[in-house]
Amino acid sequence: MNLKKELINITAEYFEATINFEKLTEASKKYKKLLNDLSNIEIDNEIGRQDIELENGKALGTFWAASCIDDMVRTKKFIKGIDEAIQEKIKKNKSLHILYAGTGPFASLMLPIILRYSSHNIKYTLLEINPLSFKILSSIIQKLGLETYNIQLVNEDATKYKVDTSIPDIIVSETMQNGLDKEQQVVIFYNLMSQAKLDTIFIPEKIELFIGLKESKIPAEKLQYKHFHKQHKVFELSKNTLSFKKWNSNNSINKLTFPQIQTILKKNTLKKFNQVVLITEISIFNNKKISFNESGLTIPKYLSNINHNITNSLIINSQYIINPEPRLKFEINPQKLN
Ligand SMILES: C[S@@+](CC[C@H](N)C(=O)[O-])C[C@H]1O[C@@H](n2cnc3c(N)ncnc32)[C@H](O)[C@@H]1O
Repeated sequence: MNLKKELINITAEYFEATINFEKLTEASKKYKKLLNDLSNIEIDNEIGRQDIELENGKALGTFWAASCIDDMVRTKKFIKGIDEAIQEKIKKNKSLHILYAGTGPFASLMLPIILRYSSHNIKYTLLEINPLSFKILSSIIQKLGLETYNIQLVNEDATKYKVDTSIPDIIVSETMQNGLDKEQQVVIFYNLMSQAKLDTIFIPEKIELFIGLKESKIPAEKLQYKHFHKQHKVFELSKNTLSFKKWNSNNSINKLTFPQIQTILKKNTLKKFNQVVLITEISIFNNKKISFNESGLTIPKYLSNINHNITNSLIINSQYIINPEPRLKFEINPQKLN
């Protein structure tokens, strides 16, 4: 079978309305195998595993970026979300420009889209900072015979990238971990949002961080969403937060700062709980979410135990910070019992 057709068949499961885990697992294995075979460059070694450390966080090594496909529900929900965003845009626009920042070696969230929309007038800008990932991506595009498509490959830093005169209609990036730790999603979206049109769709459209509480006495294997209780939103990354000028950039991305947020958890509220956690919620497009624990990106992050013998209430000061290790910085101050 011709390679393009084979890829279209293998990735069909990502476009289904619902999730069938068995079929999704099979699709995901076949998709990754085909891309690995196509690439023909060994990445399971020291160079392939090497992250790039930057002033605003790290860019994943090629091996790790390629492994993102295995986070199946994430991969499916992003691809489906991009598909729905295109459907919405092509109702109004004859041509589209899609920018994908942080493609990894396989542009895995966009390849199935590029192949399916080949008869539409869509320009793609594929942006990747890691030279090895970029080299593999360029060779895959060539091997798939996509050089004649309107694809621009750019080996640059998405936190500094200047958008050309054709401003993208859709911008996609998945450069994050749970808690928006370590990677550069915030600065990448900040840079691209500040150059976008009012109606540019960002995927994901919203990422929120909440201070939450975990119920006591539930065995680890039985823990579910209902056992985690969101208490206070402490950070949001979306076009909304940009347009309401909650950002304070001082015209320089290096100085991007966010407000300090105080969360007070009173003794009464704390009763049933034994841990303070950070909950990540991701809305991909049109309010469709990656649910709690469904992906590595939405696993709750442990912040602290609650010691009921000494704690009256908790005061949590938190602030999202940008530096070589971006994260929600927090300080938990227990108010002692008298
Ligand atoms: C989490 S991986 C995701 C890979 C792929 N997009 C996927 O979803 O399967 C993030 C990718 O973004 C790239 N990246 C991170 N920071 C970047 C930056 N500032 N500019 C361009 N690419 C970046 C990394 O090198 C890595 O390949």
